[in-house]
Amino acid sequence: MTLSGKQILLIISGGIAAYKSLDLIRRLRERGAEVRPVMTAAAQQFVTPLAVGALSASHVFTDLFSREDEQDVGHIRLARECDLVVVAPATADLMAKLANGHANDLASTILLATDRPVLLAPAMNPKMWMHPATRRNRAILAGDGIPFIGPAAGEMAEGGEAGEGRMAEPLEIVAAIEGMLGGAAGPLAGRRAIVTSGPTHEPIDPVRYIANRSSGKQGHAIAAALARLGAEVTLISGPVTIPDPAGVRVIRVERAEEMRDAVAAALPVDVAVMVAAVADWRVASTAGNKIKKRPGEAPPPLQLAENPDILKTIGHHRSRPRLVIGFAAETENVAENGRAKLDRKGADYILANDVSPKTGVMGGDRNRVKLIGRDGAEDWPEMSKDEVAEKLAALIAVKLSA
Ligand SMILES: Cc1cc2nc3c(=O)[nH]c(=O)nc-3n(C[C@H](O)[C@H](O)[C@H](O)COP(=O)(O)O)c2cc1C
Repeated sequence: MTLSGKQILLIISGGIAAYKSLDLIRRLRERGAEVRPVMTAAAQQFVTPLAVGALSASHVFTDLFSREDEQDVGHIRLARECDLVVVAPATADLMAKLANGHANDLASTILLATDRPVLLAPAMNPKMWMHPATRRNRAILAGDGIPFIGPAAGEMAEGGEAGEGRMAEPLEIVAAIEGMLGGAAGPLAGRRAIVTSGPTHEPIDPVRYIANRSSGKQGHAIAAALARLGAEVTLISGPVTIPDPAGVRVIRVERAEEMRDAVAAALPVDVAVMVAAVADWRVASTAGNKIKKRPGEAPPPLQLAENPDILKTIGHHRSRPRLVIGFAAETENVAENGRAKLDRKGADYILANDVSPKTGVMGGDRNRVKLIGRDGAEDWPEMSKDEVAEKLAALIAVKLSA
């Protein structure tokens, strides 16, 4: 119950993603939070106050000029009697109001009157998100110190459009909330962790590179799960298009050698989880200028050099973390290759997964892993990458407390 006793004032504004707020309420209450909902007039076109009230088990506040509500709680108390104000979804309109200090309905008035931290989960059409007016408002809000979770890139609910603007998933918003409110009291409080994530890009010349299909979803989820349990997490990520997890220090790198240096600089830590799909090879000598295609000439040969083995370096480092965990992305003989990797790299655990194309693991949202330790192996059933992350974070908490 990571949010036990916490009061969340949830403002739902009028976007299609309001339906996801119903799940958000459920997820927050599962974790022990009390949720007091406020809905804009537009939000009530998308989900009903009845559904929001039933899921939150709370009165739903909708009107600034409601005589009963004003006598009972009042908008100023609503704004202050909470640990955090969350706006999910945050429309372009409500963001514009907040950035410019408007207070012409209950939601916008609360946002100006509150002295509590505020978290925004924007959701809108990609054109609205990228519009210069919204970009100006985003910059103002960020300058006012208001954090955002998301939006993510992907398909819009209205068919046929894709791009940046999808509201973060409820569990990501929960993680951000836990990062802002809950983390420090968790079982990993006082522990430090490094997580690597994503692919590496190994340049051929200034415009071309060798890469792989890793999305960073699993590594980012593990970083977020460790932070939720209270760990101080440094996430060292190769180039990815997914948002940074909440409550985590993120260091962005491109090449394997940069990743190795960033990992070494983040030591000492209690646990290192090496999830990044680090390229085994780089191009031996990167061209300073774009390699030109010349008529009649054969394609240039690519001479490869071996990249540093980051997991092995950490597994045998003089400041070796108490727990070293690696991922093995295999397309055949998953168990045998994973076991061999455990010994070779000096790791305590290897999570071996089958990334052959038929599994959809690379870039997908689900994973099926085999946990290989010194005293045996355990098959985990197929689950979401968030669930794998939560299970692994719980295991780490147990091992570090032993
Ligand atoms: C079908 C439909 C979907 C909409 N989805 C969004 C959305 O996802 N994000 C957004 O910012 N506005 C969206 N709008 C526009 C808002 O509902 C509109 O700007 C409204 O005035 C917002 O009011 P509020 O900020 O007080 O909730 C949508 C409108 C319609 C009709």
